[in-house]
Amino acid sequence: MTPTASAPTLSAAPTDQPSTPPTAILGTYKRAPMLLTRGEGVRLFDDTGRAYLDFTSGIAVNALGYGDPGIARAIEQATVSGLIHTSNLFSTTPGEALAARLVDLSGFAQRVFFCNSGAEANEGAFKIARKWGRALGGPAKHEIIAVRGGFHGRLFATVAATDRPAYRLPFRPLVPGVHIVERDLGDLETALDRDTTCALIVEPIQGEGGVRVLEPALLQAMRRMTQERQIAFILDEIQCGLGRTGHLFAFERAGVQPDMVTLAKPLAGGLPMGAVLMTQPFADAMAAGDHGTTFGGGPFVASVALHVLDRLADPALLAHVRAVGAVMADGLAAIQARTGRVRAVRGTGLMWGVDVHEPAAAVIERARGLGLLILSAGEHTLRLLPPLVLSREDALAGLDTLEQAITTG
Ligand SMILES: Cc1ncc(COP(=O)(O)O)c(C=O)c1O
Repeated sequence: MTPTASAPTLSAAPTDQPSTPPTAILGTYKRAPMLLTRGEGVRLFDDTGRAYLDFTSGIAVNALGYGDPGIARAIEQATVSGLIHTSNLFSTTPGEALAARLVDLSGFAQRVFFCNSGAEANEGAFKIARKWGRALGGPAKHEIIAVRGGFHGRLFATVAATDRPAYRLPFRPLVPGVHIVERDLGDLETALDRDTTCALIVEPIQGEGGVRVLEPALLQAMRRMTQERQIAFILDEIQCGLGRTGHLFAFERAGVQPDMVTLAKPLAGGLPMGAVLMTQPFADAMAAGDHGTTFGGGPFVASVALHVLDRLADPALLAHVRAVGAVMADGLAAIQARTGRVRAVRGTGLMWGVDVHEPAAAVIERARGLGLLILSAGEHTLRLLPPLVLSREDALAGLDTLEQAITTG
């Protein structure tokens, strides 16, 4: 049926916001006012041919930038077998090889569950933790604890574990048995209960929550407490993992080993893929039929991910991230000192948060006008997530533009 002007609608009350261009896509995102048509290296181009230096990476996905010839070849090769999809009722070589490679690289995991997104990976990890907890301590051992400032996805259990009120409140009632506690040892001591808690989930670096790097000592204490109380320690490395810190896994920085790690964003070079890596006791808790996915880990996406993972695990790339990360650290500290308009700078590798006095949206808009794309992480925090292949020269160029955007308001 074609909607008519007189058809009843459930639209929100009119606001004085400028109207968005006509679109048939649901308005769950405030999209930037340009049409992207092409990408090359660390630059995106709009339909007028204008170039933008991209410090967003499609929200931490495009680690290898745009137009990467290796990814293009991997995509081509992945179609040769004719197997785009088979379902998880059958084994395929790429899925098996990718799982084995992730296990090997992780240094802690024995099994992998593949899915299609970050939220799905966390939902899967929650289900695995609940089943494991139930076997260990009975039905009471089902509570999932997340921490203040965390973001774990937009599905129901992950929204319950996500701290931002705007993401949670309109969707109540949320999944019961999921609680948020402060990032504080005393609060965690009280909240993590051997008899009722099955899992603690944290991002080693909170992305959406303002780019907050959790202290190694805090992560180590969390590991100790969860181990002592037989609670699953789940690290959400969906945004901070797979090379962004200059280590393949962010947990390596903190010297802790989790029970499960969730991955997604860069894993398949922009194709949708998520993964839960787990140790054997958690794998043992799950039997055939306990969880599932139609698409997860299909041969096409897994084949491309094998290529991407090899590239992200390359010690030369990780050293590059650490080196360019140091350029970012120095540059951002200098901007803070020079401008007096930056309250704080946080981050590591190629993941940075910059607290500004004015609304982040205003700086983002000015940066875009100057040809630099950046993100926010809360009202007053700019978030920088450039592709991991960012050169030193482009890092400096981006910092220069960022300084202009910060100071011209
Ligand atoms: C830390 C973290 N966890 C989970 C998610 C959810 O991932 P997805 O959007 O793929 O569901 C995100 C997405 O931004 C994230 O940053």
